Amino acid sequence: MNSVDTSWKKMAKSKHNKKPALLRCSPFSLVSTLAGCVFMIHLIMLYSRNYSVDLEVSSRLLTHHPIVRELERVEEENIHMPPPRKRSARAIKRKPKRPTTLVEEFLDENSQIRHLFFPDMKSAFGPSKDGNDTLNYFFPGKIWLDTEGNPIQAHGGGILYDEISKSYYWYGEYKDGPTYLSYKNGPARVRCYSSQDLWTWKNEGVVLAAEETDETHDLHKSNVLERPKVIYNSETGKYVMWMHIDDANYTKASVGVAISDTPTGPFDYLYSKSPHGFDSRDMTIFKDDDDIAYLIYSSEDNSVLHIGPLTEDYLDVKPVMKRIMVGQHREAPTIFKHQNTYYMITSGCTGWAPNEALAHAAESIMGPWETLGNPCVGGNKVFRLTTFFSQSTYVIPLPGVPGAFIFMADRWNPADLRDSRYLWLPLIVGGPADRPLEFTFGFPMWSRVSVYWHRQWRLPLGGGKNIA
Ligand code: GAL
Repeated sequence: MNSVDTSWKKMAKSKHNKKPALLRCSPFSLVSTLAGCVFMIHLIMLYSRNYSVDLEVSSRLLTHHPIVRELERVEEENIHMPPPRKRSARAIKRKPKRPTTLVEEFLDENSQIRHLFFPDMKSAFGPSKDGNDTLNYFFPGKIWLDTEGNPIQAHGGGILYDEISKSYYWYGEYKDGPTYLSYKNGPARVRCYSSQDLWTWKNEGVVLAAEETDETHDLHKSNVLERPKVIYNSETGKYVMWMHIDDANYTKASVGVAISDTPTGPFDYLYSKSPHGFDSRDMTIFKDDDDIAYLIYSSEDNSVLHIGPLTEDYLDVKPVMKRIMVGQHREAPTIFKHQNTYYMITSGCTGWAPNEALAHAAESIMGPWETLGNPCVGGNKVFRLTTFFSQSTYVIPLPGVPGAFIFMADRWNPADLRDSRYLWLPLIVGGPADRPLEFTFGFPMWSRVSVYWHRQWRLPLGGGKNIA
């Protein structure tokens, strides 16, 4: 051993025997250099991967679907606060403070600019009403009519594309029935509409009805049913609906499950439960390409989102769950997938009042999830900070247009929930994320998720005609 040591020292001392450059470095700088190289290679690979995907997607979008350019046009809004009104002493006593912000104006049912947020029936749109010039155009926030000329009632909704009937089905809350802050009596809970083109919607009726007499029943009209979502199980041939089930004080905090043999119901209500033994409020379900479905729900008093796979028949959750976005207080989750990356849009927790949406991304649906930032583009600052005065509910891929989606949101009207409006807006995945992210090994660079504000817009591919 000694002889080896000595000879090594001799060699090291010899001016003719210089150590190779690497060996002359301290172990620290050696490790840092290597780490730097790996990091750079990793960054270059990720960047080139994402960048080429983006370029490929954008060029495909632009080449084949020029209307996508239209979707990405940034449209400004210029809503001003109304001038102060003269108020009687009685009005001041009743409501001492007049609205001082646009959000307060939005929430004030007597606001002078209410018509800007909740335009009346005169400006309603839909297949039964429109002349040729507005045919196939979405008008976010305006009353949307079904094929019979009635306002669509499918709040907190979601869309199922049914391969068997080659149709879209829109399920949502029918809010003429009593639910928190609605105060009306009525028998319905979940309504369904069908469409071939995502614009022309036929009322398929109530697919999950309220319980009229049994007060202990989850579906009793005094209870809350929100955010129904339906997926199809090709193994069992059943359409499975998951929903938020609650009492009027939101203390039951459970999920409910119902099934049907057809997309248009009627659905049989099975049961409610606390998934994984936890409270569950705003929720959604997501069926992945491999047919594994997941439940995502706001839990632990809305402070955390929980995510976990459903059983093979989609009727229950498996005993596997991950806590994600811990302590971030997010709700109204909606998940979609593009190029093997999962994306989520969530809202903050301010009840019916609008707040800032956030986009999140993950390589694995079970996490870790990274927050990208506010996806809203256009309008004005208040529009962007309030998700255009709405709250996320679902995202659907735009058929035939990779990277393009429809962002579905609700503009809630707490004074009259059934008059809440729908905001469908184009959502595009592409381009670098809007916030510089912290880079660590294995950490991907996400594409930006953008939801573009438009007063009116239409789908690519012939204005959405027969895209199903
Ligand atoms: C929202 C939620 C709605 C509804 C509402 C009740 O935050 O997203 O679905 O539950 O609260 O205040």
